[in-house]
Amino acid sequence: MTPMIVHTREELKSAIAHANPKSLGFVPTMGALHEGHERLFDKARAENELVVISIFVNELQFNDAQDYANYPRDLDTDLVMATRAGVDIVFAPPAEEIYHAGKPLIQLHSGILGEMYEGASRPGHFDGMLAVVAKLLHLADPRQGEYRAYFGQKDAQQLALIRRMVADLDYPVELCSVPIVRSARGLALSSRNALLNAEQLEAALVLHRAIELIASRAARHEPLNIDDALGLFQMEPSVELDYFVVVDPNTLQELAFICQDTPFTGEALILVAAKVGGVRLIDNQPI
Ligand code: PAJ
Repeated sequence: MTPMIVHTREELKSAIAHANPKSLGFVPTMGALHEGHERLFDKARAENELVVISIFVNELQFNDAQDYANYPRDLDTDLVMATRAGVDIVFAPPAEEIYHAGKPLIQLHSGILGEMYEGASRPGHFDGMLAVVAKLLHLADPRQGEYRAYFGQKDAQQLALIRRMVADLDYPVELCSVPIVRSARGLALSSRNALLNAEQLEAALVLHRAIELIASRAARHEPLNIDDALGLFQMEPSVELDYFVVVDPNTLQELAFICQDTPFTGEALILVAAKVGGVRLIDNQPI
């Protein structure tokens, strides 16, 4: 069945109230949906009576106006995927519906967790992301019954920040996550991949190759020596590396000491970001 499409907060509220579900699964997105999003919808579908998704390209989290302008938007195709995944309600608001009081005066600050990695390269990005997620989690809240929200591990730092926000501000929602969905050749699926040509898509595979190199050493309890991963990037001049780090999975603090000579044991997360043809790509893998 085609999902019900609502554009205003009032319509969303009454649609949820009318459904009166025992459990609601909410998946916030910025659209240009792909199989990564679909995996979230599937999990929400399997675990809840009502599935609500939002499609909203949140200008506040774009630190680069060109990136915001170029961000792929295709509501008709998105609705085909939402229908296929059995989504019940699609909330697709215009900006003035979300920021009805203008640009928020009272803002969440993402703190030190938001200043590293993506935050260092995209000032204001995480504060803007939290601004919208904080609102959307309120707007989709069924007020009674079980309430779950779904996020992808693709955006590891985003997920860590949302976990902290939900804990720090006592949001009455259970957070659920899904592992990264990749193309057959290993590229992490992203709405931004649609902006790459065939050559750039090929070059972008270096992110996964570098991750795999280090992850396979971790699996063998060998020293990680990330210089070799950095060397793979040097062989792809069209890929502009921003960071390639091994971090603590909870605090995201860099674990520099395990990287060079010591055999690896324990848990960590590899994080990488790079630009290909001006398009920013991120990837990660737990080890
Ligand atoms: P967007 O990039 O559309 O992603 C929506 C959700 O899909 C996020 O939780 C993201 O981690 C997940 N996702 C994207 N690609 C994935 C992949 N390859 N595998 C698994 N999950 C994937 O993230 C955002 O939108 C925005 O920041 C948002 C949270 C909606 C706030 O505006």
